[in-house]
Amino acid sequence: MTSPIPTVTLNDGTSLPAIGLGTYKLKGASGVAAATSALDLGYRLLDSAYNYENEGTIGQAVRASGVPREEILVTSKLPGRHYHYDHAIETVYESLYRTGLEYLDLYLLHWPNPKNGLFVEAWRALVEMQRRGVLKSIGVCNFLPEHLERVIEDSGVTPVLNQIELHPYWPQAEQRLANEQLGVATESWSPLGRSTGLLDEPVIVELARILGRTPAQVVLRWHVQLGAIPLPKSLHPERQRENLDVFDFALSDEQMNEVSSLSRPHGRLWDQDPAQYEEY
Ligand code: A2P
Repeated sequence: MTSPIPTVTLNDGTSLPAIGLGTYKLKGASGVAAATSALDLGYRLLDSAYNYENEGTIGQAVRASGVPREEILVTSKLPGRHYHYDHAIETVYESLYRTGLEYLDLYLLHWPNPKNGLFVEAWRALVEMQRRGVLKSIGVCNFLPEHLERVIEDSGVTPVLNQIELHPYWPQAEQRLANEQLGVATESWSPLGRSTGLLDEPVIVELARILGRTPAQVVLRWHVQLGAIPLPKSLHPERQRENLDVFDFALSDEQMNEVSSLSRPHGRLWDQDPAQYEEY
């Protein structure tokens, strides 16, 4: 039995569980089985995206699970190719259709794509869809501080959260602080460093031994104590359970610093700097 999952209050008054399930590459029948297993284990926040092509999978898992719809928070994300206002509105409706759900709990702009300059227009569309009641909460991903400031200034509506690449190789202290100062919560994508050797780092393995936990739990606990909401992805129920079980122990300040010492000057795993990187 894992400890209850704490919640985080967002700037629009809604709340999110302090951890969620990443669903990148989780598709089809095996994806439905994995997401249903996660819901059975106690996950309540599912993170999908239009570009993951798994909104149908996630919607099906919500229906297949015995968990009431209103207890589950489903996230999706708008791809950059649909940032023109009218396309954005249509695409949100298409996301809804694909999930088969009546509303989505959280909808995010997937990348700022600053060179094509449409993220402000796309944000206006999310504000409108929230007004229509189709989206409960709206936010962004991969936004640098200047992108956050632009949408807030234009619309007067502050994103509830910013989902960013965050793991011990790339702790993002400045971006986290900027989010916090604007009242924007932080979610972590690739929180476990997506199988790049992070969980085999001697620092992490040694902390896991000292604490009697697993390397993944040490890293996820580090996220929680930073105040970020990690979205670990796993297909396997045993790992899903392990990843959820991080609320009954703590890292000391010194242990937090040891994990953060893995930080690298160019720590982004796929060189996806939102100032340059474009994704459609
Ligand atoms: P799998 O889905 O086979 O369990 P991230 O969330 O950083 O993107 O990392 C996801 C990767 O980490 C996936 O390859 C996943 O594999 C693996 N993973 C998830 N949870 C654990 C865990 N507790 N221990 C080891 N590897 C894990």
